[in-house]
Amino acid sequence: MDVVDARVQRILRAAASAPSVFNTQPWQAQVAGRTLTLRADPARQLHHSDPHGREMLISCGAFLFNARTAARRESLTPVVRVLPDPADELLVATMRLEPGPIPNTDELELSVAIARRTTSRVPFDDQPLFTDVLMAIRDAARDEGADLRPIQPSEPARAEVLGLVRRAESLAAEDPAARGEELAWTATDADRADGVPAVLLGPEPENDGAPVRRFLSSPGSAQFEQHSTMALLATAGDSPRDWVTAGQALERVLLIATTYFVHASFATTVLENPTTRHDLRRVLSLDAAPQMLMRLGYSAMLPHTPRLPAEEQAGVDGAPPVSPGVRSG
Ligand SMILES: Cc1cc2nc3c(=O)[nH]c(=O)nc-3n(C[C@H](O)[C@H](O)[C@H](O)COP(=O)(O)O)c2cc1C
Repeated sequence: MDVVDARVQRILRAAASAPSVFNTQPWQAQVAGRTLTLRADPARQLHHSDPHGREMLISCGAFLFNARTAARRESLTPVVRVLPDPADELLVATMRLEPGPIPNTDELELSVAIARRTTSRVPFDDQPLFTDVLMAIRDAARDEGADLRPIQPSEPARAEVLGLVRRAESLAAEDPAARGEELAWTATDADRADGVPAVLLGPEPENDGAPVRRFLSSPGSAQFEQHSTMALLATAGDSPRDWVTAGQALERVLLIATTYFVHASFATTVLENPTTRHDLRRVLSLDAAPQMLMRLGYSAMLPHTPRLPAEEQAGVDGAPPVSPGVRSG
């Protein structure tokens, strides 16, 4: 393996640490020379809950942001071109790696955060984010062309938002196909390298005002905080290209949050149901497309969710990627 290959391998490993819906890791990377081609993997799409691939492309956007950040850590400049390509529907982006300057302190800090970031579904400290931290996180979304709309505990619309979250979750729980998808990808066996293991699903919330997702297989239950900051990530449009933008913005938000020791978890069933998604937009008087609903706050460090070995989802110089979904070795 030459020096460039070693750098590319590190970039691919960092990219695959990205968050993805139910840890489906719905991406495939192909490397030819100095160009990485990123495609969505429809075999890992939630065809019932995510029929248009919105969450799949948000996940791929997060992968792309990590790849860009890790490239800068290697003193490479990523030259990125994002879809669409009518001739190649699954194409998400190409990223050419050019020689670049050594990373500055901000770039280094962001790249270190990649390995530290985890979703946290345990109760947070019962307090909102400090204003300066929230501003830095909002700037992160803006830097990637998206908007992060805070929903603070004092805001009257918050109760309505949480009502919609619960409504969407109840509807999904009554829908056999939605239930089947959730059960296939959560509380997964120890030998799986994708999906979310039971131990990381977090307890079921006992209180109504908990800003956290209810899973079908949560182990145990607990009182959750009521006063953490919630936030909605939104994009101007709602096309596949906007979903990739949302994914890149999501990961920049999460990495900046990580540099402030802030964790996030998500409640996205409300965005999978077209009616509750529409209602959410109305309740918040949002003049943009809602893409991710999260809570942000302080919790203990948690173990990482497993990942497929990077080499199984990446092909180099024409060798096709394979993605068997089971931990190797
Ligand atoms: C589009 C998208 C939707 C998600 N929806 C939820 C959700 O509703 N609830 C949740 O707890 N996590 C959600 N997640 C987080 C994933 O479950 C998480 O990223 C994955 O399990 C990998 O774990 P990690 O983030 O700790 O690396 C979502 C992530 C993405 C990218």
